[in-house]
Amino acid sequence: MTTQTSTLSETGRPTVTGKVPGDLLRVSDLDPRTLVELLDLAAAMKQEPLGWERDLRGGAIGCVFEKPSTRTRVSLATAAHRLGMKAMVLNKEDMQLGHGETPADTARVLSSYLDALTIRTFDHAIVEQMADAATVPVVNALSNTHHPCQSLADLLALREHFGTLDGLTVAFIGDGASNTCNSFLAACAASRMHLVIAAPPGYETDPEILGEARELMAHHGGSVSLTTDPVEAVGSAQAVYAEVWVSMDKHHERAERARDLAAYRVDDALLAHAPGEAVAMHCLPAVRGEEITSEVLDGPRSLVWRQAANRLPTAQALLHTLITTARRRTA
Ligand code: CP
Repeated sequence: MTTQTSTLSETGRPTVTGKVPGDLLRVSDLDPRTLVELLDLAAAMKQEPLGWERDLRGGAIGCVFEKPSTRTRVSLATAAHRLGMKAMVLNKEDMQLGHGETPADTARVLSSYLDALTIRTFDHAIVEQMADAATVPVVNALSNTHHPCQSLADLLALREHFGTLDGLTVAFIGDGASNTCNSFLAACAASRMHLVIAAPPGYETDPEILGEARELMAHHGGSVSLTTDPVEAVGSAQAVYAEVWVSMDKHHERAERARDLAAYRVDDALLAHAPGEAVAMHCLPAVRGEEITSEVLDGPRSLVWRQAANRLPTAQALLHTLITTARRRTA
């Protein structure tokens, strides 16, 4: 196995030369090489945040939100600003989209004004409809089934901490059917990582998403295994990923989910079964004392704040890559 290295541009900066997709709707839109290059660009942008501010000067992006957001909203807007662009954060209810206009018509019109469109919504099909109709890149800022922007930040945080992603083992604890788990699984597959998903019955990862990851892992490297036992899952893990029990679209299931997932809390007792080097992960927002304790979240093994911080440089690298590639293709 060779380790992917990044290509440098004439200016000595990392540049993405892999197969850049038109949109980012799910992690599997990125091939392994392109994913590494994006992380390299994000790392460079983290070091020199304003080094790319001329490239897209005068551009604009629209960020449509149908659900609440702190990290995604602010990181995308700040990333656009650092690239010389204006970002418009658009609440769906303030748009005609919230009053009957179709996602496709909205995307078609907004493509006339913007350089990229990001959308946070419920049904993943809405993201796909917008991407089909848009003539500018569309970024999935979270749907019920995928959260690719989060996974980019997760990978960068792990790579910074461990120096490599190759061969790392991560235990994902809790809702194996969540958008965070789905995207992180695909990210592991593209990075030759090993993922152990510990989920109770009824919270298993979708077989199709699992199958896609296994197919890539079969020839690229890495593995995914499933268990219902969180203690077994963390036994050889270098990172333990906790996930919120009641996500934004599941509030009506609160009592049932809290009961089903009660044994899947990431606390010091669970981490005691992991190797000493193991770090704790969470995509935030967290419900302290529910899926993760404050001791872990704020403790010395927490990678959580680095994951959150890395939302900005990874958003910057993603927007820069998608928009500059789209401009080249339409020039
Ligand atoms: N992790 C994440 O997407 O956070 P927000 O919901 O605050 O955007």
